[in-house]
Amino acid sequence: MDVIILPGPEAVGSHAANLIAQRAAANPEMVLGIATGSSPLGTYRELALLRAQGQATLDRVRCFALDEYVGLPDGHPASYAVVVADEVTTPLGLDPANVHIPDGSAVDIHQACLDYEQALTGAGGVDLQILGIGTNGHIGFNEPISSLASRTRIKALSAQTRRDNARFFSSGDAVPTHCITQGLGTIMDAQEILLVAQGPSKAEAVAAAIEGPVASMCPASLLQFHPRVTVLLDEDAASQLTLTDYYRFVTDAKPLLIGEGQ
Ligand code: F6R
Repeated sequence: MDVIILPGPEAVGSHAANLIAQRAAANPEMVLGIATGSSPLGTYRELALLRAQGQATLDRVRCFALDEYVGLPDGHPASYAVVVADEVTTPLGLDPANVHIPDGSAVDIHQACLDYEQALTGAGGVDLQILGIGTNGHIGFNEPISSLASRTRIKALSAQTRRDNARFFSSGDAVPTHCITQGLGTIMDAQEILLVAQGPSKAEAVAAAIEGPVASMCPASLLQFHPRVTVLLDEDAASQLTLTDYYRFVTDAKPLLIGEGQ
């Protein structure tokens, strides 16, 4: 795992965008796993900027979102279908036919989850997965005590996650109770993972994920088992780590290898 501590949220976005652009240059049809929420927004904006400057070519990139709320009406502004269209598909110039999001309004949710796994497999799996992290250590919407081997399925959101995400809705009660999320096993199948976290509210979860024991109480800690993970943090998100001197030393010692394996 590469842990890279950057001066602020802007630097996190720009570093992440450059890494994605680099991977897309090497593999123009790559499958990019996308997270929603606020953490990767800076990354998507920087990536759109790189594209506008001719420094990123993304038109053949294929995308799979991590998750979607269950039961929101079509076109709801907080649905990940709308967020992905506005923040990813349009600004990055992706072909909408290449952008996949779990179907949170499916009549048969179980079948929709199986279909999503099948579509992922059919695309050859995720090459690069972008992740945020919840204040409770979730990745995707795999809440604490999720099975470490889980696949795409319906999950009940925790009270903490519903409180955290109330800012995207008119009220706390308007936050859906359930979602479809890729499982932890699904996420771990990605060839490479890029986790971004900013701000003091993420510090405890980040420390537990990186330096704590691997435990379903902190689902992101499972990433310790993945061979190719880069974690980009601003100073606030990194503030509860104990080995920061070591992470800075490693980053300084191999600038050319960042993101190239750990
Ligand atoms: C969203 C997702 C979640 C978020 C996490 C952090 O697709 O998978 O794991 O990344 O809840 O959310 P923000 O970034 O809004 O703090």
